[in-house]
Amino acid sequence: MKKIMTVFGTRPEAIKVCPLINELKKRKNIDVIVCVTGQHRQMLDQVLNTFNVQPDYDLNLMKNKQTLFDITIGILEGIKNIIKVEQPDVVLIHGDTTTAFATALACFYLQTPIGHVEAGLRTYNIYSPYPEEFNRQVVSIISSYNFAPTQLSRENLISEGHNPESIYITGNTVIDAMEHTVTANYNHPELDWIGDSKMIFITAHRRENLGEPMRHMFRAIRRVLDEHVDCKAIYPIHMNPLVREIATEELGECDRIHIIEPLDVLDCHNFEARSYLCLTDSGGIQEECPSYGVPVLVMRDTTERPEGVNAGTLKLVGTDEETIYKNFKLLLEDKDYYNTMSNACNPYGDGKACKRIADILEYGVYEPWKPEK
Ligand code: UD1
Ligand code: UDP
Repeated sequence: MKKIMTVFGTRPEAIKVCPLINELKKRKNIDVIVCVTGQHRQMLDQVLNTFNVQPDYDLNLMKNKQTLFDITIGILEGIKNIIKVEQPDVVLIHGDTTTAFATALACFYLQTPIGHVEAGLRTYNIYSPYPEEFNRQVVSIISSYNFAPTQLSRENLISEGHNPESIYITGNTVIDAMEHTVTANYNHPELDWIGDSKMIFITAHRRENLGEPMRHMFRAIRRVLDEHVDCKAIYPIHMNPLVREIATEELGECDRIHIIEPLDVLDCHNFEARSYLCLTDSGGIQEECPSYGVPVLVMRDTTERPEGVNAGTLKLVGTDEETIYKNFKLLLEDKDYYNTMSNACNPYGDGKACKRIADILEYGVYEPWKPEK
């Protein structure tokens, strides 16, 4: 019997790890231990409930306006004894959060093998996204199993000198999650409010965008919405109070934007699928919207997800007010341009990533994912 311990703490990690936990639980040669750090609280619990996952351990460390120091120190102190007591064969971490980084560091100190899910995404600018690019590069140095979602993420790891035998192309587990969420007969009161208008879907939360960049993002959105009465926007707002302060100041008075509480993942995917276009600085949403053929304006200077840019569905527009304004307006007014961006494609996976990762952990063999030509 192999003991696999999963450690995660934020909403996006939970969305991408819970389907994997449920797959690992089906395997007869695997014993799964679930540990959450509680880097997020309400937004994490929403996802745990949706996927019916009950943690064995919960560090419960979220603090209001927490710093990177708070999270890193809290995890290092909290996780040490759990790993010592459980003695897992492999600790599975996900992506690029401070939960992933601090857990990897603890595993390194205890010489416990790491499996890194969503390995090899890169911008090669450690300040963008901050601190995520640093986190994921460091994790790659110490992980034994690198579950790369795409061929490109595998190539990144190989070009950095990581052992090719440790790298598996699995597809992204978010595509697996989406198979359980989007339904044809879905409805919601906010969709009734949208009616026949074009739905604009907005999210924003990146640390490096807090402050002036986020104000510019919101001002650009506000200006375009004021000029386009056929559009209404839904903005499920992140729980970060720093985001909430800026959003209330810049978007609060606009009656064609509904700022709502974070959506359950099931609702979120159904909203995305019905959107006309999306403006975001999120990572996960850049992977989800291409599947629905929903164009995404990525309000960041860099992306670690160039597959969607190459496929034409994502466009990087940075955080400059005029650039966002012009690109958003163009996408609403130029139908040909809109059509070139709205082709549905799936460059991130085929919905079988969890099975592949479980096969590798259970039997050491798997069928690599190859995108359809
Ligand atoms: C974190 C991750 C980021 C990921 C994002 C997903 C790091 C450094 N950042 O950023 O990579 O993209 O999660 O959303 O790991 N809060 C609540 N309730 C919640 C969640 C957050 O109140 O359920 C508030 C708290 O005041 C908290 C603040 O949001 O202090 C910021 O949370 P934090 O995890 O530090 O940063 P995120 O921006 O969420
Ligand atoms: N999401 C959600 N509810 C919301 C907003 C986002 O369930 O109100 C989901 C979204 O579908 C995606 C993930 O959260 O799967 C993205 O999380 P976030 O943007 O917080 O983090 P990132 O992906 O940037 O790390």
